[in-house]
Amino acid sequence: MNQSKRMIAGSILMAGILTFSFYGLGRSWASSKHQVDPLYLEECGSCHMAYPAQLLPPKSWQKIMAQLENHFGESAELDPITQQDISSYLNQVSKRNNGSYRKLLRNLGNKTPMRMTELPYFIHEHDEIPSRYIKANDKVGSLSQCNACHQRAEQGDFDEDDVFIPGFGRWDD
Ligand code: HEC
Ligand code: HEC
Repeated sequence: MNQSKRMIAGSILMAGILTFSFYGLGRSWASSKHQVDPLYLEECGSCHMAYPAQLLPPKSWQKIMAQLENHFGESAELDPITQQDISSYLNQVSKRNNGSYRKLLRNLGNKTPMRMTELPYFIHEHDEIPSRYIKANDKVGSLSQCNACHQRAEQGDFDEDDVFIPGFGRWDD
């Protein structure tokens, strides 16, 4: 092989390696972001969506999981093994400080919030929505129904460009 052929072969090989590793990275990132424990989906996704674990800090999930017999006025009790499995899943995922949710977990001080809807950043983002689009809207009912407005909430995506409020439409601000 002469010099230039060797260089061409080298760059083809390099491009191949780059494409392969970018593909690999993209895939592992996507799967780690969207892989939700099926047990969690089943047990905690029947009355409301199974909230992405990163939306609350680990200590909040511990507190929620420790009082399921009185869960916001309802019983969400589980057998001890299922409860333990779900607790450790929530703990593991919420421990990773995921970039896109970091803002929500700011300024909590030493509080242990039981709701995302009480987080300062959450309140700041939702306080301009008139209540007729929430409480008086039977397709929404409360701000806890994230997926009523965030079309990609189940994929863990709360981008304000994907908000559609039932009966009102796309939110532009
Ligand atoms: C029997 C129905 C039911 C089941 C099952 C259930 N929940 Fe709930 N959950 C509720 C109700 C009702 C609320 C309050 C919603 C509201 O205020 O509009 C709530 C609220 C929440 C909130 C606070 C949402 C907010 O306002 O920010 C979290 C977090 C939560 N649930 C987690 C869980 C977890 C974890 C499980 C599984 C162990 C679970 N839920 C299972 C009924 C249920
Ligand atoms: C009534 C419809 C509605 C519900 C229900 C709702 N949201 Fe929102 N959300 C909005 C709107 C509208 C905005 C954009 C606000 C703005 O542009 O200022 C928003 C913004 C956000 C943002 C900021 C997005 C960004 O791009 O910065 C986050 C995070 C968020 N919501 C999370 C949630 C979570 C978590 C829940 C459920 C606990 C929820 N929302 C429930 C309507 C809703």
